[in-house]
Amino acid sequence: MPESPIRKLVPYAEEAQKKGKNIYYLNIGQPDIKTPQVALDAIKNTTIETLAYSRSEGAESYRIKISDYYKRNSIVVSHNDIIVTTGGSEALLFAFGSIMDEGDEIIIPEPFYANYNGFSTASGVKVVPVISKIEDNFALPPIEEFEKLITAKTKAILICNPGNPTGYLYSKEEIKQLADIVKKHDLFLIADEVYREFVYDGVDHYSILQEPGLEEHAIIIDSVSKRYSMCGARIGYLVSKNTEFIKTALKFAQARLSPPTLAQIASEAALDTPQSYFDDVKEEYVKRRNTLIEGLEKIEGVKVAKPNGAFYCIAELPVKNSDHFAKWLLESFDYNNDTVMVAPAAGFYSTPGVGLNQIRIAYVLNNESLKTAVKILEEALKVYKD
Ligand SMILES: Cc1ncc(COP(=O)(O)O)c(C=O)c1O
Repeated sequence: MPESPIRKLVPYAEEAQKKGKNIYYLNIGQPDIKTPQVALDAIKNTTIETLAYSRSEGAESYRIKISDYYKRNSIVVSHNDIIVTTGGSEALLFAFGSIMDEGDEIIIPEPFYANYNGFSTASGVKVVPVISKIEDNFALPPIEEFEKLITAKTKAILICNPGNPTGYLYSKEEIKQLADIVKKHDLFLIADEVYREFVYDGVDHYSILQEPGLEEHAIIIDSVSKRYSMCGARIGYLVSKNTEFIKTALKFAQARLSPPTLAQIASEAALDTPQSYFDDVKEEYVKRRNTLIEGLEKIEGVKVAKPNGAFYCIAELPVKNSDHFAKWLLESFDYNNDTVMVAPAAGFYSTPGVGLNQIRIAYVLNNESLKTAVKILEEALKVYKD
């Protein structure tokens, strides 16, 4: 199993903290946003006497409310098209297990969410990457690049929309290109849409299940983790109109018995979160993104792709090896006793040697902290020698 590029530097951070350094954590997508009160109240006010298993596919009342949520987002699915999982993570694992055998291949534009590598390894599946470039803002690579890579073993294309770690939001046109190719070669199109609400600059999110004719091919990975800042609830879901797929995924769900019962109660209540919550969150993230991107663009030698969604960006630094730089930041550098923790981007690629001079930054800190963090990076790059 590959180690997580996001978590592997934790021991260095702990060591730095022991030495009394203050660390700004830009490495992990754990938002500092409060969980909606309706979700917290549902846990506090529960009258449950036995914390029993739920149904393997998730509580029916919850799945019906999820299907209403999708309808509000122009995605027409029934509760029978939904399986509740232990986070989007388990949804990914079930999807991989349900559609691929050992040795099968999945095409993924890189850089991609690093745990796709882990889930592929665990399922015995080979990741076939297509490189997207910082110069193009990480847009969808030309569709011919995908077509060239399709073999008899290819079972699916996986995208993350909007993207972690790129922040890129795929356009309707790009989704249509992907739809055409999966239909032509009879593949699945898996879209990880866990950041669906986090889209900026007035652009709309276009889901693969809004695309007509994709019903048999489309699998959505979803999660409450970021949407309601409920990462610890461990609730996600698989959504597909392909009944054969849902039937197979349900066997995986049955094997692990049930998704967490208490967290489903909180997540069901979270669906009543008022729109004003999302408006405030979005406004906050736009502010943070602007602060971060404007700050990074001012640093000499730094190149950055402006994200339209999620809360991450990839920055190219004037260093040879960002892995070394990230460790050095924790071990050997401080600016007024402060330092930053970033995620080296090479772990978000599966092509060896690519992304070595890039880092991923999660803008999950408040505006003032982000300003300080950017200043620390700037000062660090002035003195760092690789
Ligand atoms: C793109 C993406 N997909 C899936 C996940 C999994 O999240 P969870 O298992 O908390 O739902 C994450 C978490 O950071 C993510 O960034």
